[in-house]
Amino acid sequence: EKGGFGSFMDKEIHDQPHAVADTLLGRTDAAGHLVLDELRIDEAVLRAVDKIVVVACGTAAYAGHVAKYAIEHWCRIPVEVELAHEFRYRDPVVDERTLVVAISQSGETMDTLMAVRHAREQGATTLAIVNTHGSTIPRESDAVLYTHAGPEIAVASTKAFLSQITAAYLLGLFLAQLRGNKFPDEIASTLEELRAMPDKIQEVLDRSGRVREIARWMADTQSVLFLGRHVGYPIALEGALKLKELAYIHAEGFAAGELKHGPIALIEPGQPVFVVVPSPRGRHSLHSKVVSNIQEIRARGARTIVIAEDGDEAVRPYADEVFSVPQCPTLLAPLLTVVPLQVFACELATAKGLDVDQPRNLAKSVTVE
Ligand code: F6R
Repeated sequence: EKGGFGSFMDKEIHDQPHAVADTLLGRTDAAGHLVLDELRIDEAVLRAVDKIVVVACGTAAYAGHVAKYAIEHWCRIPVEVELAHEFRYRDPVVDERTLVVAISQSGETMDTLMAVRHAREQGATTLAIVNTHGSTIPRESDAVLYTHAGPEIAVASTKAFLSQITAAYLLGLFLAQLRGNKFPDEIASTLEELRAMPDKIQEVLDRSGRVREIARWMADTQSVLFLGRHVGYPIALEGALKLKELAYIHAEGFAAGELKHGPIALIEPGQPVFVVVPSPRGRHSLHSKVVSNIQEIRARGARTIVIAEDGDEAVRPYADEVFSVPQCPTLLAPLLTVVPLQVFACELATAKGLDVDQPRNLAKSVTVE
């Protein structure tokens, strides 16, 4: 049932092109308009939404963090991302015009469920982005948008994460369509680009041999840092989480812009640092800023392992290793850049002889607060 893979996690990493394709499937009409009939929320309510709050835990919260960049850009609605267990204890500002989006693979995470209950009590509309049909969170929410990742067996979330980002993006595009923030052809072309992502994810998987080699060499590593910026920032956090939970290695993710505000003090000769580099074709100047960060840490002896877009030659002089991913629009890049980080954690933990499907002290769904 592991389909020839050494672990469920490895299999699920390889299922990701399908997971994303299935999450996109059947959500447009013949004219190419997004139809999310399953939402069953009055369109007038969705038009009146003036704030979105994403509540989730762990990897699902990082999916929300990625989606914040896209939804704010497309819909011009402020989006907050809040760890579900922090949300209800801080007297959050939530009312009838707030859309609270709960993201959960299992649909059973108690902290996330309690956040949904609290939001409803405050009069907010609640929408669940969930993978497991018939679970509690969608039952207690006003609406549900299912991810179609299929059952996720390994404790560490991989294909559910990509599907969560995809579903949250569909929600963002749907709101933009409904509220007239974007022209129909802009939405159609973004959907077209999303539909091209499964093949690109497959391409990243096909190139992952070198990531595996490096991971095996690094099996004795004590600490790994991850840097990213813009949508690459939550991906850096996710890369660090995967390594902690699977390989029991100290790992930390940072926003690359924070480096000089403290974390650069951690850099000493030989320190491995993964850097998620924004596209040089992006509209902002972030690419050159992150390349400067790589230069700075390399000058202090860091071992730089860089994830960059195909054709990005600027990173090469400062990178000990480059993993290239296919070109795509900036906001969609997380669906590609996270994959080498997942493969790295899975392979390194396997090389250490650990059970990647059942890491110590962790459960697949956390049904206690
Ligand atoms: C990390 C991981 C956890 C879950 C978190 C939320 O790999 O699996 O961080 O993402 O416990 O779980 P769900 O999505 O089921 O609410």
